[in-house]
Amino acid sequence: MKIVLIGYMGSGKTTIGKKMADKLKFDFLDLDDYIIESEGMAIRDIFKEKGELYFRKKEHEYLDEVLTTEQNLVLSTGGGTPCYGKNMETILKNTPNAFYLRVSIKELAQRLSKEKEYRPLIKNIPDDDLPEFVGKHLFERSFFYSKAAHTIMCDNKEPEDIIKEIEVLIT
Ligand code: S3P
Repeated sequence: MKIVLIGYMGSGKTTIGKKMADKLKFDFLDLDDYIIESEGMAIRDIFKEKGELYFRKKEHEYLDEVLTTEQNLVLSTGGGTPCYGKNMETILKNTPNAFYLRVSIKELAQRLSKEKEYRPLIKNIPDDDLPEFVGKHLFERSFFYSKAAHTIMCDNKEPEDIIKEIEVLIT
């Protein structure tokens, strides 16, 4: 069985995914970490040296690879994963358990202002401009995120409470 978490950068996919995998005794995999390990490079270096297109190609390949194993897995995707090529279709084809972790623009901008360094898409955006950037970007991406079987509203909730909400929806 596969449980896939999708959502914007900073929406808590990794934190929640890890805790949920522990609780369910599933394996946990963070797609970004898998890419870093497989490519032997940090994401920001892949973007800088090989370009975003290369990153998206690899992201697609590794997504296919990890979704077609037999293991029980909680998979945290990258913020852009569902928004390129046929990735969202691939996710939905492989599992009914795709969850969009939805966080408000305000909350995302606050969280991301402290976590920009390793995220090439936002690292040069001044904190004051983050809400506008995130708002526009999220508007474009919501089309893809909303295809997930379930949307979990995550503002002002502890990871444990979000996990409880997800658990009862798993099929
Ligand atoms: C990206 C999100 C990042 C990472 C890459 C691109 C995006 O993952 O995959 O920097 O396009 O939103 P996180 O959502 O884990 O930050």
